[in-house]
Amino acid sequence: MNRVFSGIQPTGDLHLGNYLGALRNWVRMQHEYSCLYCVVDLHAITMWQEPDALRHNTLEVTAGLIASGLDPKSNIIFNQSRVPAHAELAWIFNCVARLGWLNRMTQFKDKAGKNRENASVGLYAYPNLMAADILAYKATHVPVGEDQKQHLELARDIAQKFNNDYGVNYFPLPEPVIQGPATRVMSLRDGTKKMSKSDPSEASRINMTDSADDIAQKIRRAKTDPDALPDSANDLETRPEAANLIGIYAALSDMNSDEVCKKFAGAQFSAFKEALTERAVSVLAPIGAEMARLLENQDYLDQVLIEGAARAGAIAEPILHETFRIVGLRRG
Ligand code: TYM
Repeated sequence: MNRVFSGIQPTGDLHLGNYLGALRNWVRMQHEYSCLYCVVDLHAITMWQEPDALRHNTLEVTAGLIASGLDPKSNIIFNQSRVPAHAELAWIFNCVARLGWLNRMTQFKDKAGKNRENASVGLYAYPNLMAADILAYKATHVPVGEDQKQHLELARDIAQKFNNDYGVNYFPLPEPVIQGPATRVMSLRDGTKKMSKSDPSEASRINMTDSADDIAQKIRRAKTDPDALPDSANDLETRPEAANLIGIYAALSDMNSDEVCKKFAGAQFSAFKEALTERAVSVLAPIGAEMARLLENQDYLDQVLIEGAARAGAIAEPILHETFRIVGLRRG
């Protein structure tokens, strides 16, 4: 049976990269597969989080998922810490994954920065918890942005090694689903850097709760080069900022970058940016408004997470029990 799992951290404002790289694809998959979408609060605390902010962000991200179009009845939407199976399976995977594998993870290197000795052990073991998230449900498909590819390869390696070590064919090797023209949305200030919640510059990203004026201003100020739009996407290779804005327009309009180039060939970026602003506002403004509306009813959002966790736990429990049995732990 095909099952979809994906996760998102409640660490700050949701942005256009999260929407185009992940959420939008989650919405598209919701009627084709049985889907679990998880607000990964245990992952969030691998870096310092103010407790009140974490509590709030967990609900805000939940509102973002629903406002983007995910139906909490046909999908399972929950927060990670409410289902103990994630942490329990992660421990088993800590004993399966090898140090050498984790040493290769580029996200740890980026996030730990120069002062690696001072990073939390959790940040280092992060990919093992991520493998546990997916495999606690024996999920087969994982829709993510490009930046999660290496972690998913590790999840496959863990599943494979577990199966080999114990001589079983128990865990599936989960497939990454990295789809569309905006699998890696870049910063509006630097076309070689990923758009990210942790970028100190607010101008680098469009948040899903930004007002129409904020969106217009950020796009107007977005870095570009002096040339006009080319008539083919092949000519964008050496123009990262141009490629990024064209990719964003394409994703927001259900086109590919080449079609966008054909449509705007020869236009100046000042004119293109106006068209892009109109697109971005028409997609994001209703989502932002719905997030604000949902956040006024926090009890409802909590109820979604509580019910989701009960449904998720019911799937994970028997999978965990069988895992314990395979490993030789006297539990269950
Ligand atoms: P997170 O919270 O950083 O991001 C959530 C999703 O948004 C995608 N994304 C982007 N896509 C395109 N362009 C960007 N600039 C961009 N920034 C973020 C991410 O690829 C992701 O799909 N480790 C994960 C969360 C996680 C998870 C999992 C995902 C925990 N367990 C199990 C899948 C399966 C993360 O930090 O995502």
